[in-house]
Amino acid sequence: MCGIVGYIGNKPAYPILINGLKRLEYRGYDSAGISILNAESKIYKCRGKVNDLETHINGRNITGNIGIGHTRWATHGVPNDVNAHPHKSQNGHFTLIHNGIIENYSELRTELMDRGYEFKSETDTEVLVNLIEHLYIKTKTSAENAVRLALQRVIGAYGLVIIAKDEPDKLIAARKGSPLVIGVGNGEYFLASDATPIIEYTNKVIYLKDGEMAVLKRDNLDLSSIDNHKHTPSKVQTIDLDIGEIDKGEFEHFMLKEIFEQPKSIRDTFRGRISMEKHIISLGGLFEVMPRLVDAKRIIIVGCGTSWHAGLVGEYLLEEFARIPVEVEYGSEFRYRNPVILGDDIVIVISQSGETADSLAAIKMAKEAGALVLGICNVVGSSIPRETMGGVYTHAGPEIGVASTKAFTAQVTVLTMLAMWLGKKRRLLKEETYLKFITELQEIPDRIEDILKNNDQLKEIAAKYKDANNFLYLGRGYSFPVALEGALKLKEISYIHAEGYPAAEMKHGPIALIDKKMPVVFIAPKDDSYDKIVSNIQEVKSRGGIVIAVVNEGDKTIKGMADHVIEVPETNLALMPLLTVIPLQLLSYHIAIMRGCNVDQPRNLAKSVTVE
Ligand code: M6R
Repeated sequence: MCGIVGYIGNKPAYPILINGLKRLEYRGYDSAGISILNAESKIYKCRGKVNDLETHINGRNITGNIGIGHTRWATHGVPNDVNAHPHKSQNGHFTLIHNGIIENYSELRTELMDRGYEFKSETDTEVLVNLIEHLYIKTKTSAENAVRLALQRVIGAYGLVIIAKDEPDKLIAARKGSPLVIGVGNGEYFLASDATPIIEYTNKVIYLKDGEMAVLKRDNLDLSSIDNHKHTPSKVQTIDLDIGEIDKGEFEHFMLKEIFEQPKSIRDTFRGRISMEKHIISLGGLFEVMPRLVDAKRIIIVGCGTSWHAGLVGEYLLEEFARIPVEVEYGSEFRYRNPVILGDDIVIVISQSGETADSLAAIKMAKEAGALVLGICNVVGSSIPRETMGGVYTHAGPEIGVASTKAFTAQVTVLTMLAMWLGKKRRLLKEETYLKFITELQEIPDRIEDILKNNDQLKEIAAKYKDANNFLYLGRGYSFPVALEGALKLKEISYIHAEGYPAAEMKHGPIALIDKKMPVVFIAPKDDSYDKIVSNIQEVKSRGGIVIAVVNEGDKTIKGMADHVIEVPETNLALMPLLTVIPLQLLSYHIAIMRGCNVDQPRNLAKSVTVE
């Protein structure tokens, strides 16, 4: 949640900060602010997007080579000018930007009020900056020690960057639970919540570890633990991120770009991992844990949102091809419901961002129980890959649109490879079935290219139903998680209420909703339950419902019954989610655009949910 950017060097800080905030805006966009260290050290902040901040600042001459910037997703206090970051301490000694939640802020606030502090905002961040100042004045210590002392009193999560007025040659940063990346330049350092604001200046980065503090001067970086144990700086890593990947290019929105990128992103996911000559799938990040995986008695998949939906597809795949029992859990439920985790369980955590707080907490629990914990993540170097004992990167490239699209298909691609690989290792798959399957998997990007050509048809359907108040998405088997994903896409970007259901469950309740205003989207490829889904379509039609069906090419039966059919090519049924989800992404996109919604930055949401 919230995006953080900082700079110390010899360049003008303002353009670096404002551009960095634009790159990070997907993390939160209800207010934004910056502060640059100079004679005035003023804070500029306002409610709204980074563009609003730019307009607010326009015309002012903000000079200085050290500064911090923040784009907010509100936790404590409504989005307004006052609650926006940065926050300055009462006597002006410190200026702070913060991502995370200080859980004991209320008690600290009362304590500080008793000592004469007054608060302008409702934020936990203002409490923290004043706590730092109070300890600084009381103990007459250095700025970084004051930060250290304050953080030792804090319960909660943070990624933060601080400017200290009395020590103007440095930035102080710390992280616990919220990511921070340091960009290493020549006589300069950058700081950000992820590498996207940094990449146009340097591709050399250091990922701050959890519980670590950094003091950055132009030509020096000091790392230590919060309780003051010196750390040798982690290896400087070279990141392979193309600036073009974080631009919209010819597309109007990141979401549309990312939908259209899926042929490429899926190819990138299986690139180097499938060899037709040697007939093998190789997942390098799992080599070391292979024996334990092959002998698994149970796999627990954990994720949130779209990643949880990908996990459901994984359940079907792993049970069908590897015959291993699978349970799929929401991170938030799993972490709090005292689940039975056995020492020989394999826990696979799926996450695009690699920073989702509930998924990270699930990892901690599973590790404590002795399970083998693996990750399927998109963001290289993020917390989940670093906390797990092995895993697979999806390599889908940066996903900026808040609604997840290419991350989903990349996650399903990884799970498909994993299921095939395990099925083979467990000698459950005949060679020819296996070979046919991986051939078809490699053809999926071409099939998606074909589906994307139907974009105009999806636009027409969207125009007809953009004003609906409710949508129902129904599917069976592999199409059930796709129904859930289709419904999530629609509700999060268009604000239309939508529900996904297993088609057969319809008659146990949701059928009562059906009337002539209710579009029902069926995901109905020619699979084993095709006849049953045809009956479900009839049940909806006979109650006056509107049917939009995603079917296989040439399907005449459903064409004769549905109001609209959207065709997708045939492929192995287990690969069908990779195809059927594409028209649903496009449908949601067009409906949202026609309703005037901001698809890349839907209201109330943020790309990565680093708070509980
Ligand atoms: O980064 P993660 O995959 O862990 O994020 C999980 C969810 O927050 C995410 O999928 C969310 O539901 C998206 N907005 C869905 O489009």
